[in-house]
Amino acid sequence: MPEFTQQDQLPWTCSSWRHRPATQMPDYGDTVALAEVETRLAHSLPLVFIGEINNLKKNLTEVAAGRAFLLQGGDCAESFADFNECTITDTFRVLLQMAVILTFAAACPVVKVGRMAGQFAKPRSAPVETRDGVTLPSYRGDIINGLDFTSEARQPDPRRQLRAYSQSAATLNLLRALAQGGFADLRRVQQWNLDFLRANPQGARYRDLAGRINESLAFMRACGLDAATDPQVRQVPFYTSHEALLLGYEQALTRCDPLSGQWYDGSAHFLWIGERTRQLDGAHVEFLRGIANPIGVKLGPTVGPDTLLRLLDVLNPANQPGRLTLIIRMGAERIETVLPPLIRVVQREGRQVIWSCDPMHSNTLETSAGYKTRPFARILDEVRRFFAIHCAEGSIPGAMHFELTGEDVTECLGGAQDITEQHLADRYRTQCDPRLNASQSLELAFLIAEMLKDYRRDQHPLD
Ligand code: PEP
Ligand code: CO
Repeated sequence: MPEFTQQDQLPWTCSSWRHRPATQMPDYGDTVALAEVETRLAHSLPLVFIGEINNLKKNLTEVAAGRAFLLQGGDCAESFADFNECTITDTFRVLLQMAVILTFAAACPVVKVGRMAGQFAKPRSAPVETRDGVTLPSYRGDIINGLDFTSEARQPDPRRQLRAYSQSAATLNLLRALAQGGFADLRRVQQWNLDFLRANPQGARYRDLAGRINESLAFMRACGLDAATDPQVRQVPFYTSHEALLLGYEQALTRCDPLSGQWYDGSAHFLWIGERTRQLDGAHVEFLRGIANPIGVKLGPTVGPDTLLRLLDVLNPANQPGRLTLIIRMGAERIETVLPPLIRVVQREGRQVIWSCDPMHSNTLETSAGYKTRPFARILDEVRRFFAIHCAEGSIPGAMHFELTGEDVTECLGGAQDITEQHLADRYRTQCDPRLNASQSLELAFLIAEMLKDYRRDQHPLD
């Protein structure tokens, strides 16, 4: 096959991806129903608004410059069955708690982006799954097919897109209420952190940091900054994101902004391209290059500097700071060999990127009992190496990307709760990949806070 070059690029339209090879997309049998669904979505309201997307863009420009930090996290896959107020509230709460810890440590704003309100489509390593001699299409996320191992459930059904759209709208509605209605009050979030420390066997280790956050809050109050008078203490900007995998759905929610003439995907504030769909000539890169939302691309251990440069040429040709987040997911063993050459080429070429660390997706293993899990120690190890590499290379460790839930699940091994292989069966609830639970997420936030503090002290010794 001839190699794809940039000269091959035709003008972008919101459907130009349809002329490119598309991997990981379902084969819908019922194309009439699919067209009906896409038309309905194209006439539906966008879920997020252009002004919000532009605010996130501004925030991410600050992250790219090292003046803010990006925290992105949430479910591996949202589900129709597990849709309730508690799940959303708990996950939102944990993200806020982590953000408070990191804000204090980094002494800079933390931009909060949930993998929420739209994270429904999943790329899979294998197109089919076999159990006891029966082979069926793989589960691809609730927006595409069902998890049950029956041929009816595994059939891709386009009508699921409408349900995913309305669940995303309802989730966003709750998130907006939580972010603005007092739930996100800084003092309240800090109180939850103190409750966590009291209940945690290793809590003493983090008490010093928590104590200093408390002192700062008291100081702010003494200066007259409090929840009653200052919305900054009571409200938080919160953004949504998901993998832009199901491109027909994304296209249907993409609209042209009459003011700027730019196209915005209204399904979420931030969209990313997965590790399995980042082919340079592929449909996913084609779609995302043309939308004005800030975007991300996952980079696994096989990516090299040349591929990265070509991706940057296509996805961020104007070299805008904050436009593109590179979400590194190399694995604790590989990051040290693969990441430094990527950083060097980006620096040599003067490219503007945000470096994010996803320590989840290359640290997965399967136990002898058949559970997909991730050891906390390995997750932490990749994060530590990510920070150390950036310190050595003089680049900015600007972001973290986690799969987590506010529920008390037993899906990842280790952490202060010391979850062992025997515990996994107790509350293993994920539809797809293993997530950090609330306690593991907060513990990680305290540990990352220490790394961020050290990093910033080395960068700004006089601050
Ligand atoms: C994910 O983020 O859920 C995912 C599938 O990641 P990746 O594309 O990095 O494998
Ligand atoms: Co995942």
